[in-house]
Amino acid sequence: MNLLPQDSLELIQNAPSIVFLTGAGISSESGIPTFRGEGGLWKNFRAEDLATPEAFQKNPKLVWEWYDWRREICQKAKPNLGHLIIAKWQKKSSSVHLITQNVDGLHPRAGSETLIELHGNIFRVRCTNCTSIFHLEKDGLDHPGLKFCKECDSLLRPDIVWFGEEYNQNLLTKSWELCKQSQVVILIGTSANVSVPTNLAQTAIRNGAIGIEINPEETNLTPSMKHHFDGKSGEVLPQIWKEVFPDETME
Ligand code: OAD
Repeated sequence: MNLLPQDSLELIQNAPSIVFLTGAGISSESGIPTFRGEGGLWKNFRAEDLATPEAFQKNPKLVWEWYDWRREICQKAKPNLGHLIIAKWQKKSSSVHLITQNVDGLHPRAGSETLIELHGNIFRVRCTNCTSIFHLEKDGLDHPGLKFCKECDSLLRPDIVWFGEEYNQNLLTKSWELCKQSQVVILIGTSANVSVPTNLAQTAIRNGAIGIEINPEETNLTPSMKHHFDGKSGEVLPQIWKEVFPDETME
């Protein structure tokens, strides 16, 4: 039996603009812990000790150790079917856009060339003093512990949006635009507890998009969705792909 009723299927097939909005759940099948679920990072660590500017000022070594540990997990992880299908969909059509809250780099590794990483990227660092930005691996800075700027020798920090910090304004503006003009917003693996991404999805829906949620749990946004698919993204997305592109193979 098909997941999508005919009207939604046709809307997706003909939509001039579709936005995928992803969260930690899409990477859980790759072995990366989520934040709020069972075994989630915020169940075992205090965000205020590790993911705020104040925490970094107080104990940069501890913050770096935590990010080094998480980066290693991301490095070893491989993109799963969920990431791969979104990348394939984007390659097929320039009307498919991707906004992610994830910093793990698995979407680009799956082949998504254009995406908005709203919360930054765990492989990127920026200087706390000058404007330099580095890639930890490509710039040979992926040793454990404190890292220092190659230009001015000041302390480097993860290029990640911490609690209490502003989002990158350009990325935010672009995200609002994409959501406002979309006809379909597909929400995957996010608990919708963070206000900016949640507002982005709500904006799309207020502007006439249908919402589709893929998540084994219900979220704050479930009531405003047209469809909630209760399952793992690596299982539900391949089914949706087959319905939208019945003549295409998955390879
Ligand atoms: P959460 O950990 O809050 O939520 C993960 C969601 O994924 C939950 O609703 C799960 O039910 C769902 N989930 C788990 N496995 C899944 C699967 N295989 N397929 C589909 N869904 C699945 O993660 P986010 O909502 O992404 O911010 O968290 C948002 C932000 O809060 C993160 O970006 C992070 C955190 O503080 C920063 O690091 C800046």
